[in-house]
Amino acid sequence: MNTESIKSFSMECFSLKGKVAIVTGGNTNLGLAYTAAFAKAGADLWIPHFTDDIDDAKTLVEAEGRKIAFIKGDLTDNNYVRNVVDGCVKEYGKIDILVNNAGMGHFAEFAEYPDEMWKRCVDLNFNAVYYLGHETAKVMMRQRSGKIINIGSALSFTADRKCPPYIASKHGVIGITRTFANELGAYNIQTNAICPGFFASEINKEISDDKVFYEKITSRIAAGRWGDRADLMGTAIFLASGASDYINGWYISVDGGFTTVL
Ligand SMILES: NC(=O)c1ccc[n+]([C@@H]2O[C@H](COP(=O)([O-])OP(=O)(O)OC[C@H]3O[C@@H](n4cnc5c(N)ncnc54)[C@H](O)[C@@H]3O)[C@@H](O)[C@H]2O)c1
Repeated sequence: MNTESIKSFSMECFSLKGKVAIVTGGNTNLGLAYTAAFAKAGADLWIPHFTDDIDDAKTLVEAEGRKIAFIKGDLTDNNYVRNVVDGCVKEYGKIDILVNNAGMGHFAEFAEYPDEMWKRCVDLNFNAVYYLGHETAKVMMRQRSGKIINIGSALSFTADRKCPPYIASKHGVIGITRTFANELGAYNIQTNAICPGFFASEINKEISDDKVFYEKITSRIAAGRWGDRADLMGTAIFLASGASDYINGWYISVDGGFTTVL
């Protein structure tokens, strides 16, 4: 049997040297871990941010000797979405990796759930994932290469009370991921999702501060602990790199086993 391809396999396929990555919300919380991971693997960063706290991202990326540039705005505005893509091409000449990380949640009793919050969550967690992915795909199709990583959640497969648009939109992220995989596979573009479990961060401060809920969740995590941001970094590098070129339309749950527990 011909063993040439096996012999020529190199750990270099995990490297992101010379790549350009967009990480939406890559200046905060979990997004910051993807940003730092890509810089450590050799990529330059283009960060669409919504809040002004960009210093950590700048420090972490520059410490790795990589470049980082920022563009501020609201991803539910399609003009800004186009500017994110055009701006990255203008700054770096290409887009190799997109991480659709920005997201939001809102908790309220179902009977009082505000229509406005349903709309805002779906616009950011679902519609913006499609629109930015679609604009970025046009660039990647011309390049005939690219990696799109959508951020789902353990709530892409499970549900709970009080956060209907978060659950619906995160389920939808899996659908967008599979659609993109089908549309773009022939262009050597792979679209996959990372589904984090429970990580203490701004987005779930309300639930992580609730002792009863915290214990209930912890008891269901096979690893026996909530996630640390660094737990996401290897998976992000893998899905952004050539090492995952034949994986398309799938998700990796980084949840300590949470979604496997009865
Ligand atoms: N923290 C967790 O345990 C957890 C678990 C599963 C999935 N996730 C997902 O991971 C992603 C990051 O979450 P996080 O925990 O770091 O929360 P976070 O609130 O810190 O991050 C969300 C990011 O989205 C940005 N954002 C909010 N509204 C925006 C808008 N209108 N336009 C552009 N950007 C906007 C925020 O500024 C922030 O940078 C989200 O998609 C979230 O659903 C988080």
